[in-house]
Formats: sequence, C-alpha cells, structure tokens
Amino acid sequence: MRHACAMADGSWYDGDIDDVIVSEEQIKEKISDLAKQVADDYRAVESVLLVGVLKGAFMFMADFAREMGRHGHPVELEFMAVSSYGQRATSSGVVRILKDLDRDIAGRHVIVVEDIVDSGLTLSWLLRYLQSRSAASVEVVALLRKPDAIQVKVPVKYVGFDIPNEFVVGYGLDYAERYRELPYVGVLKSSVYVRA
Ligand code: IMP
Repeated sequence: MRHACAMADGSWYDGDIDDVIVSEEQIKEKISDLAKQVADDYRAVESVLLVGVLKGAFMFMADFAREMGRHGHPVELEFMAVSSYGQRATSSGVVRILKDLDRDIAGRHVIVVEDIVDSGLTLSWLLRYLQSRSAASVEVVALLRKPDAIQVKVPVKYVGFDIPNEFVVGYGLDYAERYRELPYVGVLKSSVYVRA
C-alpha cells in the first residue's frame, strides 16, 4: 500500500519518476507510424499473426493491434511467456517457456511484438524457436531498443525508439512487478531502489 496514497489527485507513480524518456503522446504517434508501415509491408498477406511476449508487451500489443486495424489490416493474436535462466547480467540466452503458443504457426506470417530489446538474447532464442515451428516468415516489432546493450545480432525490422542504456519502467515494463500501468516510459528515482 506504500504507493497507493502517494498523491491525492493524479497518478500515484509520477512522484517516483525522474525522467520521462518517451511520453504518452510520442508512444501513440509512433505506434500509429509503425502499424502503418507494417500494414503497407504486409498488404499481400491476408492476416498477420502477432505474437506478444508477456508480460512486458501486453500494452504495446493492445495498442499496436488496434492501430493495425485502423490501418485496414486484420491481425490474429497469440501470446508467449518466457523467462531467462539465471541472472540477467550473466544470462546465457537459455530460455524457459512459461506459456507456449496455443496453435500451430506453420505457414503463417508472424510478427513478434516486444516491449524492449536489451541484450537481444531472449529475442534471438525466440526467433529460432518460431522458425523451428515452420512459420512462413518471422519479423520483429519492438517499441524500445537499447543499442549499447545488444550482444547478439538480432534482426529487429521495426523499432519505435532507441533509448539510452538505462533501466526504464512503464508502458508494460516493470520494476519488481510495479509500474507496468504507466502510460509513458520513464526512469525511476534512485530513492525507489533504496526503499525497496
Ligand atoms: P534481453 O534478452 O536482454 O533483450 O531482455 C529482454 C527483456 O528484459 C524484456 O522483454 C524486458 O522484459 C526485460 N528488460 C530489459 N530491459 C529492461 C528495462 O530497462 N526495464 C524493464 N525491463 C527490461
């Protein structure tokens, strides 16, 4: 309940954020641009299969799917949940599937919807996995990318924003399962980590 009454009016979380890296307005505009681009590129494909990576991508997935619809392109939605073994800093890129696809994707044109590409290890594993399930094509749309941190060359065709190499929260991204509901992407104040 620590955060619940941080502010009488307005959002409880604003006081925990140092810097807004990407505003709600910027996210909205960018998703519309990305969806238009994807809808144009996939004009010849009847229905694209979006694969959202839980939990972080849930908000991006919802907004991106809506924008695809507005740009006149049907989509179908699937979700996967994965977790890396061990500590992030020492991650070997070995991934455990917590929730698998609910159906066969053979012959389908798949777009992986990712919140953020950091080291790229999770994504690299996921792309190999989806290709092994005989998708006709697999591309990636990522809202955020940290260019400095990319250890593995992963082909991310559609990128929203290149951001600095800082830990960010909001718009699906969490710190200890909090802050996912923020409508923007921001950096937490260091005092938040101290009191955690
Ligand atoms: P990667 O395998 O290092 O690219 O890690 C990707 C996953 O780590 C993302 O899908 C996020 O869930 C998480 N992640 C990476 N960077 C951040 C961050 O700055 N804030 C919150 N989660 C992050």
